Amino acid sequence: MLYSEKVMDHLLRPRNAGSIEDASGVGEAGNMACGDIMRMYLKVEDGIIEDVKFETFGCGSAIAVSSIATEMIKGKPVSEAAKLTNKAVLSALDGLPKNKIHCSLLAEEAVKSALEDYYKKAGETPPKSG
Ligand code: FES
Repeated sequence: MLYSEKVMDHLLRPRNAGSIEDASGVGEAGNMACGDIMRMYLKVEDGIIEDVKFETFGCGSAIAVSSIATEMIKGKPVSEAAKLTNKAVLSALDGLPKNKIHCSLLAEEAVKSALEDYYKKAGETPPKSG
């Protein structure tokens, strides 16, 4: 089968789809080649990601990736969310077909971009990644 059960589950029943009006941070990532765009909204309180929503205009993998990424960072400290990698997303989804690997990068980039926006709005300096 092309997609793992996990991918199919998140693709058909995406978690945390939508937007957050008074988001603490909003980030976006896109891929020029396929034209897909992912937007992440974070609601942060006391350094914890209380809520996260996504809007993804793109392929099924990008939607599954967005969905699982929101689950992986919800309820976590921002410092931990900053460490989200596309590899972690891929393994949480039990992999993606080779030509869909780039879709997982969008999640990492969109989350990082939303965190940057959060730090900027909060007037904080982002911790060094590593
Ligand atoms: Fe480009 Fe999925 S095909 S994000």
